[in-house]
Amino acid sequence: MTVSSEELEKAAETLRAGGLVAVPTETVYGLGADAENPAALARVFQAKGRPPTHPLIVHIGESDHLDRWVREVPETARLLAAAFWPGPLTLVLRRCARVPLAATGGLETVAIRMPDHPVALALLAEFGGGIAAPSANRFGSVSPTTAEHVRAELGAAVDVVLDGGPCTVGVESTIVDLSGDAPRLLRPGGVTREELETVLGQAVPDGASDGVRVPGQHPSHYAPAAKVVLVDAEQVVAEAELADKQGHRVGVLLPASQTGMPVTAHTVITVPATDADYARGLYGFLREFDRQGCDLVIACLPPREGLGLAIANRLGRAAGPRPGA
Ligand code: TXA
Ligand code: MG
Repeated sequence: MTVSSEELEKAAETLRAGGLVAVPTETVYGLGADAENPAALARVFQAKGRPPTHPLIVHIGESDHLDRWVREVPETARLLAAAFWPGPLTLVLRRCARVPLAATGGLETVAIRMPDHPVALALLAEFGGGIAAPSANRFGSVSPTTAEHVRAELGAAVDVVLDGGPCTVGVESTIVDLSGDAPRLLRPGGVTREELETVLGQAVPDGASDGVRVPGQHPSHYAPAAKVVLVDAEQVVAEAELADKQGHRVGVLLPASQTGMPVTAHTVITVPATDADYARGLYGFLREFDRQGCDLVIACLPPREGLGLAIANRLGRAAGPRPGA
């Protein structure tokens, strides 16, 4: 493990004192606080610049602890937790009184997950309680997949940054709502819809968007500074050339099918061969285009199956309308 026991103890102490700890998980880095301390939760919203009506995810260290945070654990939740925890799956269930409304954005449901990262699990064991953590980025921007991203974006707003290395999944957890009559997919992520459906033996259709309360569902989420334009795979090279001629500083996410083509652009990143590698790299690629000063990024969507659904979702949001833009 990359973090010493002294660092872990200090981080747990910081959480107990109401401070903020950036925690590596397998998906993205989280900005963690004591899930039962409303004042600490208020600091999370402040550090992120996120409206307090937007719910957080409560991270737990053991599947058995789920009962402590929710009113009842339906069979579907037991099945999914047994199959995918620790792992990139978040379950939305009816909250019990222990969960402050500050963690749920005022909702009667709470989002819970057990992360699959040795540092996160060690911190949860050391701390003992639940850690409420949104992704450790400023509201609306790209989620951090390295400790360096967190430091660059949140700086002094975080008391402790635990460096657990680069995240292995790279996109956020899948969120499934189990608080209603039937399971609903609220956000595609590291666990695929196909995997959920296999375990549950039933379809898991998309859930209705809860509008403003669910930031992961804002169209403008996960956006780099550069404008992202999505085109068909066969159009990527031609569109890049056109934008280059128009004077843009162009970044290209070049699909594997087009790699034989000569591309005129400032920065070209070739899409990795597997969806797992693509998901792992995606947010780093978007940050790299910004670092290179690109003002326009040309990309195409992968097929919406398996992990491709989560990648397409994040690219679609990166290309979505921006507030005030
Ligand atoms: O992979 C992840 O899930 C990462 C790591 C740090 O665990 N966390 C993350 O948190 O992505 P955040 O805050 O960026 O996204 C959490 C999302 C919210 O955007 C919202 O969509 C959903 O969880 N959520 C939380 N509580 C909910 C609830 N009660 N009902 C519906 N959606 C909820
Ligand atoms: Mg987020």
